[in-house]
Amino acid sequence: MIDCHCHLLFGIDDGPETLEGAVVMARILAGHGFSEVYCTPHCISGLYENTPAIVRDRVARLQQALDLAEIPLRLWPGMEYYLDSRFFEELPDLQPLGQSRLLLVEAPNWAGCDLIVENIRQIVASGYVPLIAHPERCNLIVAPEPDEGLWARARRWFGGGVSKPPSDLLSQLQGLGCLFQGNLGSFAGRYGKLVEKRAVALLEAGLYSCLGSDSHPLPGLEIMISDGIEKVSRLTPDHRQLLSAGRLFI
Ligand SMILES: [Fe+2]
Repeated sequence: MIDCHCHLLFGIDDGPETLEGAVVMARILAGHGFSEVYCTPHCISGLYENTPAIVRDRVARLQQALDLAEIPLRLWPGMEYYLDSRFFEELPDLQPLGQSRLLLVEAPNWAGCDLIVENIRQIVASGYVPLIAHPERCNLIVAPEPDEGLWARARRWFGGGVSKPPSDLLSQLQGLGCLFQGNLGSFAGRYGKLVEKRAVALLEAGLYSCLGSDSHPLPGLEIMISDGIEKVSRLTPDHRQLLSAGRLFI
């Protein structure tokens, strides 16, 4: 299996702090059947200011450690770009997923649709294919149903005066050629029932091109991965292809 979204690199985002911690995580991933991992640390201006050179250096150091420890995992460089108002600063030097033209991006829930679309247009104009990380976690992309959680409470508090998030962002993104990556943790219930429900709906609608672990060094990582894989394999006969990112890298 291929993990196309993983915070496995040490000391550069909210992934493991040390090389040793990264080796522990890598052992877990290999133990669950992953053979390749795209290392995708956050790139967020003012918080995690990672560059392709930093990522490639960490990948080389970690790969060496994994080879020494005989952990059968092939690492590739990547990044998870945050589509905020300073994303354009990254455009001259972008890090795609390995040797592909795929660029993993995250749409902040607080950002307006116009900003997201503008950033996506710039990515496409630069010759890359945006791969939207975990759309099931983004209220801008998957507008909450009227009876869903926070949105329903907000509508009650404000007497219906809060406008509903635009629901056409998803189709705009599809029209711009975006692909979509789901999180195993979403299927495992890691982010709550609402996100789990959305993930199942998007999977059944055939939206996802691939699934990833979005692993961080958190308690319950092993359970999250095994529950996620188990749930997805029950939901779709396509699970092997989704878990090997088969539609992307062949
Ligand atoms: Fe992530």
